[in-house]
Amino acid sequence: MKKVSLYVCLLLNLSLFVILPYSKASQTDKLDELILSRSSQNPPKTFTWEEEDTLNTQSSSSSSSSSSFSSSSSYVSAPQEGLRQADKIVTLPGQPYGVNFDQYSGYVTVDAEAGRELFYYFVESPYNPSTKPLLLWLNGGPGCSSLGYGAFEELGPFRINSDGKTLNRNKYAWNEAANVLFLESPAGVGFSYSNTTSDYYKAGDKATAKDSYVFLINWLERFPEYKTRDFYIAGESYAGHYVPQLASTILQNNIHYKHTIINLRGISIGNAWVDEAKGSKGLYDYFWTHALNSDQTHELIEKYCDFTSENVSAICNNATDRALIEKGNIDFYNIYAPQCHDSSLKNGSTGYVTNDFDPCSDYYGIVYLNRPEIQKALHAKPTNWTHCR
Ligand SMILES: *[C@@H]1O[C@H](CO)[C@@H](O)[C@H](O)[C@H]1NC(C)=O
Ligand SMILES: *[C@@H]1O[C@H](CO)[C@@H](O)[C@H](O)[C@H]1NC(C)=O
Ligand SMILES: *[C@@H]1O[C@H](CO)[C@@H](O)[C@H](O)[C@H]1NC(C)=O
Ligand SMILES: *[C@@H]1O[C@H](CO)[C@@H](O)[C@H](O)[C@H]1NC(C)=O
Ligand SMILES: *[C@@H]1O[C@H](CO)[C@@H](O)[C@H](O)[C@H]1NC(C)=O
Repeated sequence: MKKVSLYVCLLLNLSLFVILPYSKASQTDKLDELILSRSSQNPPKTFTWEEEDTLNTQSSSSSSSSSSFSSSSSYVSAPQEGLRQADKIVTLPGQPYGVNFDQYSGYVTVDAEAGRELFYYFVESPYNPSTKPLLLWLNGGPGCSSLGYGAFEELGPFRINSDGKTLNRNKYAWNEAANVLFLESPAGVGFSYSNTTSDYYKAGDKATAKDSYVFLINWLERFPEYKTRDFYIAGESYAGHYVPQLASTILQNNIHYKHTIINLRGISIGNAWVDEAKGSKGLYDYFWTHALNSDQTHELIEKYCDFTSENVSAICNNATDRALIEKGNIDFYNIYAPQCHDSSLKNGSTGYVTNDFDPCSDYYGIVYLNRPEIQKALHAKPTNWTHCR
């Protein structure tokens, strides 16, 4: 079955519009970096999903962890019983009173030989978790943390106060509706790591999807009551790649083993980066339709830029440079929000400036997640944690 038709089977909620308010953050910097590198005169050679498939088949003899199907049990790297209790978070330092749901975090080994483990943070719903679906959240980048962004700045149960030390309840937390699993992926992001450092340079979409799949299979052994649960994958930004690619991996394995190993029900992507050409065109159209670019610049882009071409002309580069200068120094992922002007820690509950949005929240997050007592409570290895690798 072709990948495209697999996608169509899914409940697709693709949104190429900017829907999530976040600060001018490293996740967006990472994506900008990617977009700019692709439109440079000498774009880096990257492999498409299909090309990587061919490469993997050719080199499959050299690696026990290649994509060849053997048996679904071969994905399980070690017995998982008992690990669940060890992963239970007693209390997160600085959490508010009255936390009425269970939290877990820890590592799942995805390749024992390489010593590669992925870190997760899992929050159950406060109300009837056993009747609620399981939702996996993935941030983008590529290379950014679902813990730092997703869990603590966007949809998790807590947000970090401007003291970098205490937490408040997020009134928009998604665990009101689902049991939410945040995964730091691929290895090298956040607390996820590999003892084989070359893994960090080999990471690509295919390896990321495979590791996430192995993570899920093992995680479900650790939390067996979720094995048959309705499962959703959601994410944003570069997860426009990660989400459908993991979905496709799940469906292919379900078909291959002729039973529902993971009960995938749907996917959802916000601010999705799916297609280079459409994404770039959409970005400049957005600038122009939001009065951030002049008509002249827009016309130059319309006339000279063919974003489907690998070879971007000098005149197109000139036009897109103009567009970026004209939009000014604003957070173009949230054009109506202020920028962070004072990144220092502040006493007091929150630093929200407008509608529950604090453009400085990255700075509180990096302090909080690097506190040794927090890393200990999260069962994370002592790490110099950053939002993006
Ligand atoms: C990675 O290496 C460290 C230090 O030797 C060890 O404690 C850890 O268990 C290793 N991780 C894996 C997944 O093998
Ligand atoms: C890209 O365009 C330039 C200028 O038109 C041309 O000299 C060059 O050969 C092109 N490169 C490729 C890979 O098509
Ligand atoms: C690009 O812009 C520079 C300066 O703004 C100009 O000198 C140059 O001729 C432009 N190149 C093209 C191909 O338009
Ligand atoms: C916050 O208040 C505490 C107690 O008054 C004080 O010790 C600390 O220095 C203050 N921190 C900041 C960042 O202002
Ligand atoms: C964090 O970085 C500092 C400075 O580079 C280094 O001394 C320290 O060992 C690092 N800690 C960990 C846990 O990697």
